[in-house]
This record gives sequence, C-alpha cells and structure tokens, in this order.
Amino acid sequence: MPEVDSSKKEKEYYEDVPQEAPGFFLKGAGNVDWGMKNRLSRIFNPETGRTVMLAIDHGYFQGPTTGLERIDLSIVPLMPYADALMLTRGVLRTMVPASLTKPIVMRCSGGPSILKELSNEHLAVDIEDAIRMNVSAITLQVFIGGEFESRSVRNMTRLVDMGLRYGIPVMAVTAVGKDMVRDARYFRLACRICAELGAQFIKCYYVDEGFRTVTSSCPVPIVMAGGKKIAELDALTMAYNAIQQGASGVDMGRNIFQSEAPKAMIQAVRKVVHENMKPKEALNLYETLKNEQEKARG
Ligand code: 5RP
Repeated sequence: MPEVDSSKKEKEYYEDVPQEAPGFFLKGAGNVDWGMKNRLSRIFNPETGRTVMLAIDHGYFQGPTTGLERIDLSIVPLMPYADALMLTRGVLRTMVPASLTKPIVMRCSGGPSILKELSNEHLAVDIEDAIRMNVSAITLQVFIGGEFESRSVRNMTRLVDMGLRYGIPVMAVTAVGKDMVRDARYFRLACRICAELGAQFIKCYYVDEGFRTVTSSCPVPIVMAGGKKIAELDALTMAYNAIQQGASGVDMGRNIFQSEAPKAMIQAVRKVVHENMKPKEALNLYETLKNEQEKARG
C-alpha cells in the first residue's frame, strides 16, 4: 500500500497556493544551469508555461503500434503541430527529417518487450548519443511498486546525473504496473519520489479524484500522460481537467495518432492546453477541422 506514513495528522497540500518559481517560469527549475533552462524553454512555451508533447515512442516495447506503422507517412505531417516530440533514437535517425527543429525528448530506457516483465528495464542510450542528436530532454520509465522498482529508480538517478553533467533535463515517466491502483495516492508517491531523486519534470496519468494533490505535492512540472484511446471529447476533457488542476501540459500519443483525424485532434488539444479552451468548444473545433481536412482531401 503506498504512502506508509503513520502520522494521524491530515495531510495539507495547499492546493490553492501555487508553488513560487523564482528566477524562471517553470516551477522547480530556478536553480538549474542556463543550458538546462534553455532546453526546458524549448519544450515548455515560456508564455503559457505549458507544452503539447506528441508521444510516439511505443515501438520500443510493443513494436509497430496501431497508428505508428509508418511514422514517415502518418506522424511526420503531425510534427509541426507539436511543441515537442517524445520518441526513440531509432525513429529519430531513420524517419524524422533533421531539418525539423522541434525539441526532442528522447527515450533512453528499454529492454523487455510486451512479452516480458516491463519493469525489468535498463538504460539504453549513452548520453553522448543524446547530445549528438541535439535532444532537449531525456526520458525513461520509473516503476514505483513494480517488480524491478529499485533498478528503474537507479536507472533514473544515473540518467539525472548524466543529464546534469551536460545540462539536459530528465522527464521521469511514472509507469503503473498491471496490478497497481491508479489513484492520487499512488501518483503522489511516484511523482514525489522521481522529483526528490532529481527528475526535472514528470509524466503522470490523470486521475479523477485528487489530481490537484498530485501536482501540488510535486515540486517540478507534471505533464499528463494520454493513455489508451478514448472518445475525443473524453480525451479533451481529461486534458482540460489536468491543466486546470496544475498540469504543465500533456504528453499524448494514442489519443492523437489513433484519432480519426489526428491533425484536427492535436490542434484541439493545443487550444485546451495553451488557451484553456473548454472541452466542448475544443470538440467543435476538432469536428470543424476534421470536416475541412476531409473536404480538402476530396
Ligand atoms: C508509456 C509511455 C509510452 O510509450 C507512450 O509515450 C504512451 O503514450 P500514450 O499513452 O499517450 O499513447 O510513455 O508510459
């Protein structure tokens, strides 16, 4: 059971009091170096403090995921609409034009496939290769409560040390095992551990109950994970709720690239994230753009 804390006193998360961010626009990053601040400013828009990341790294453990069979054909055209791209070095080198100047958040963990225990991961990229590919952040899964929890935490602290050496931020992905309850209690635990051990920002699932306690008890920005494909209105509502409850953006994959109209969907998500557009209004925008794109295709 997460949060073994014997105190009887009720926890106080000060959910309505935003954490101050002296010296920089992103919480928790005031004391990092210029290079790291600059890379974070490429991922998070300094005007809104938020980001829309497009996650397309699924192949690193599950092969050609639906929607990602041909990244060159279906995903490259979406890239101009994203603030940042989360992907593997294999996809970056083989399919993404080097002329694309979008910031890259490069997956640096791997090992097991979907056929095995997923928490049994290792670091799978040298920091030199990440630098060579001019990435803006490096990322990996952290399996709090998983079978190989300790190894994945150690992977993260090693990645954080390498990143600090060269000014490259680490995004920790809170990976929830099959048997774990996805609730605020679990995510408070997982996000806080990742932040305390040095991650500069964290990817975390949204939960209906108490998400604000997750963002307020985490000293670094949280970006909302998309998860499996749901109806467009539900995905836009989830993104809206996460943003209104303190998330600093989203990192969405399947809910964008498995949508009937991915280009329309990512544009609707952008409005929710950067302009606080309400979900129904964003759905209307999605429908309008979808119809326009269908017409243009003939
Ligand atoms: C798993 C990951 C993924 O590989 C991916 O980024 C998930 O994206 P989505 O759930 O939005 O399809 O990080 O946790």
